[in-house]
Amino acid sequence: MATWTPESAYMLAAIEEALKGAGRTHPNPSVGAVVVKADRIVGRGFHEGPGHPHAEIVALGEAGSLARGADLYVTLEPCCTTGRTGPCTAALLASGISRIAACVRDPNPRVNGAGIRELEASGVLVSVGLMEEEGRRVDPAYHTFHGLGRPHVHMKWAQTLDGRVVLTHGGYITGPKARLKVHEDRFLADAILVSGATVAADDPLLTVRLDGRPKPLLRILLDNRRMLTGGERVFGTCPQGGDVWVVRPAGSPIPEFDGRPGVSVVELATDDGGRFPLRNLLSVLHDRGVMGLFVEAVGRLSASFFGEDLVDRVSVHIAPLLAGTGIGPAAIEGPVRMQGGARVLENPRWEQAGGDWIVTADLEAPCSRG
Ligand SMILES: NC(=O)c1ccc[n+]([C@@H]2O[C@H](COP(=O)([O-])OP(=O)(O)OC[C@H]3O[C@@H](n4cnc5c(N)ncnc54)[C@H](OP(=O)(O)O)[C@@H]3O)[C@@H](O)[C@H]2O)c1
Repeated sequence: MATWTPESAYMLAAIEEALKGAGRTHPNPSVGAVVVKADRIVGRGFHEGPGHPHAEIVALGEAGSLARGADLYVTLEPCCTTGRTGPCTAALLASGISRIAACVRDPNPRVNGAGIRELEASGVLVSVGLMEEEGRRVDPAYHTFHGLGRPHVHMKWAQTLDGRVVLTHGGYITGPKARLKVHEDRFLADAILVSGATVAADDPLLTVRLDGRPKPLLRILLDNRRMLTGGERVFGTCPQGGDVWVVRPAGSPIPEFDGRPGVSVVELATDDGGRFPLRNLLSVLHDRGVMGLFVEAVGRLSASFFGEDLVDRVSVHIAPLLAGTGIGPAAIEGPVRMQGGARVLENPRWEQAGGDWIVTADLEAPCSRG
């Protein structure tokens, strides 16, 4: 059987395309594609969201007749299904593309290799696996949702240089640029989760506040201690800022705020300690179609997520402050699953945000865990 060695530089261009659609495509994946003919990119495309053409179709459209005999680099296996738009495989075959390199197979059970098989059966040379990890990271939520059957969990906290997550006199730890990054990360998610204790302490809105990019998120408040009254600011932004779910122990009295526009009380069984098994909560969210969950937590709540090994990505926002003997919990008040004394994170990267630093890293690659 013939093989070929596709090139990373072209795949990188396809990944850059895909990232232009990040946060807008749910429930579809963010995908990018480039058409290459005679060592030149002759077509580029990304998926802008449901109802819009897929990345391959946009790139083929730009390439026009140059697509015949060309190579296509795409971040995800082309679809072979009909949804709001037709199957990409049919369009690719009609275009006369000769070779296709995809980063990664589409984990959606409706595709999952069927697109590749259809293309190969028609004589197109297909290579899967070039920049596979990078391809998954284009839309980790999509891969975790379909590969592991739960939402991808991105946890964020802010801390001082000496590791404190609460300041004695309250207020923000980080500056405006780091906080803007929080909104950009919220934008990539479908839902945001905090503890009822944090809502009671900080009274946050939990909305996405980016110029020209409104995005209502499902806002989940874990209120196992029934601290919320319905008077907190988050309730005042319903439903335009996104729906609010107040998660309470099964059998709790129904509060007055249940059933207000955009507000639901969701009952969930607790364990012996009065806490929700988070895997059960994620299963409920999966059934609701939540692919990306952004968790802003510290202390016992972050420990609960780590304790159940349900964290996929961590972003730690670090301010050049020393709080000394402080108040409040540690970033994680509990064990994390260790590997020789510490949890090793993958692909760590950092960026400067004004006077603060943001370190982001992944826990083992999504889908490599069972
Ligand atoms: N710096 C940051 O990035 C950041 C982020 C969030 C919050 N904070 C600050 O941290 C302070 C304390 O926050 P916090 O009280 O939320 O911290 P916490 O110590 O994590 O307490 C969290 C709450 O979540 C509950 N919880 C933990 N696991 C749970 C589970 N599996 N199911 C249901 N509930 C669970 C705890 O319940 P139990 O009562 O059962 O333990 C507790 O009520 C606040 O002042 C807030 O401003 C800072």
